[in-house]
Amino acid sequence: MAEEYLNYRNKRLFIENVDFEKLVNKFGTPLYVYSFSELTKNIKAYQEAFSSCKTLFCYACKANSNFELLRIIGRSGFGADIVSGGELFVSLKAGISPKKIVYSGVGKRGDEILYALNSDILMFNVESEEELLEINRIAISLNKKARISFRINPDVDPETHHYIATGLALSKFGIDIKEAEKLYQKAARLKGIEVVGCQMHIGSQLTKLSPIIEAAHKLVGLVKKLNKKGIKISLLDLGGGLGITYKNEKVPALSMLAKRILPLIEELGVTLILEPGRSIVGNTGVLLTKVLYLKNKRNKNFVIIDAGMNDLIRPSLYDAYHEIIPCVNKSNKMIKADIVGPVCESGDFLAKERAMPFVNNNSYLCVRSAGAYGFSMASNYNFRLKPAEVLVKGDKYYLIRDRENLSDLLVNQKTAVGV
Ligand code: LLP
Repeated sequence: MAEEYLNYRNKRLFIENVDFEKLVNKFGTPLYVYSFSELTKNIKAYQEAFSSCKTLFCYACKANSNFELLRIIGRSGFGADIVSGGELFVSLKAGISPKKIVYSGVGKRGDEILYALNSDILMFNVESEEELLEINRIAISLNKKARISFRINPDVDPETHHYIATGLALSKFGIDIKEAEKLYQKAARLKGIEVVGCQMHIGSQLTKLSPIIEAAHKLVGLVKKLNKKGIKISLLDLGGGLGITYKNEKVPALSMLAKRILPLIEELGVTLILEPGRSIVGNTGVLLTKVLYLKNKRNKNFVIIDAGMNDLIRPSLYDAYHEIIPCVNKSNKMIKADIVGPVCESGDFLAKERAMPFVNNNSYLCVRSAGAYGFSMASNYNFRLKPAEVLVKGDKYYLIRDRENLSDLLVNQKTAVGV
C-alpha cells in the first residue's frame, strides 16, 4: 500500500503497530485514525524539498482542523492558512504564532478582520477592492497597518474537479490579473495598508506541475512590474500544495515542484509561502467503519456501513474515489457492490459498483486517504454524532477527539419560552 503505516499482518489490518480491532473495540465506529509517522513524513517532505530558500509553510487548516494535529503541525515549524475567525482562534490556541498566519477567503467579515488585526497576523490575502477598503478602514480605526497581498487570479486551468478549481478568470476567487497593478497602486496609497505580498491558489488536488508553473510565472511577471513601480513585494505565496494518490493518480514529487519554483524565488529575493493542506494530512488518515447489513436487490449488492455522507462527504459531493479495504482480508471471493451509509439520501454512498472482497455483516472496512476534508467537512445531518478521532504512533494510540454524544445534539438549542 502507498501508505507505509497501513499493513496486513496475518491478514489483519495494522495501523502503524496497532491492530485495527483494538481501536474499534475501544473507540467504536465510525472512527477516524491518523498516523503520526505519515504526518511527520509529509511535513518533512516540504521542509526538505525547499530547504535551499527562505520559506514559510502555512498549513491550510480547513483540510483537517483537529486541535492535536494542528499542535503537532505547528510544533514542526509550520504556520497556518486560515479562512475564518474560527480557524484563527483554534490556530492561535494550538500555539501557532500569529506571525506565521495568513488569512485567505473571499468573504472575511468585519469582526473577523478586527480579530485578525488585533492578533497581528502576518498577512491578509485580499480578494476584492471592497475587501481592501474594509480592511483599510478597520486598520485605521485601530491605528494599525494591515499587511496584505492580493490573491491574483491568473486565469489558468488547474485541471482538477470543477468544484475545487479556483484559478480560472470567472471563478469567484481572487482579483483579475489584468486589474492587479492598478489595485496594488491604490493599496500602496492607503493609510491602513502595507503591501507585502502576492498570492495565488489555482485549485486543489493538483496532479500536474504545468498549471502551477504557468501561473507562478504570471505572478513573477507581476511582481517584477510592481517592484519597478516602487511597490516592494517580499512574500510570494503560491497557495495550496500538490494533490495526493487516491487511486492511481501519479503525483509529481515535491522535489520536481521545488526545482521549477526555486529559481523564480531566488531571482525575486522573496520568501516563498506555500499553503498545503491535503498533501500534509490526506494520506495520513483513514476512516474505520463497520458493515451493518448486506442487501441484494435484482442482483445488485449493497454493503450498508455505519459511516455516511455526514462523516465523509467527498464521494457524494465530488464523486471522489476512496480506496476501501477490508480490515480482515481473508476472503478470496470478490463481489461488486455499492458501499452505502445510513443517511436518508440516495447520494449517501462511499463507493459505487466497487469490486471488493466479500465481507460479512459485523466485519470492518477501512476507507483510505480520508485525512483531508474528511472530519473537517463532517456534519450532524440526520442527527448523527460526529465520529471520534485517534492518533497512532508506533504501538501507542491516543484519543484526540471524543465521539459526540447524544446530549451534544441539544447544545445551543433554545426553548421559545411562551410559544
Ligand atoms: N489555500 C487556499 C486559499 C485554499 O482555498 C486551499 C483549499 C488550500 C490552500 C489548500 O489546498 P490543498 O493543499 O489542500 O490542495 N473539500 C475539497 C477541497 C477544497 C479545497 C479548498 N481550498 C475536497 O475534499 O477535495
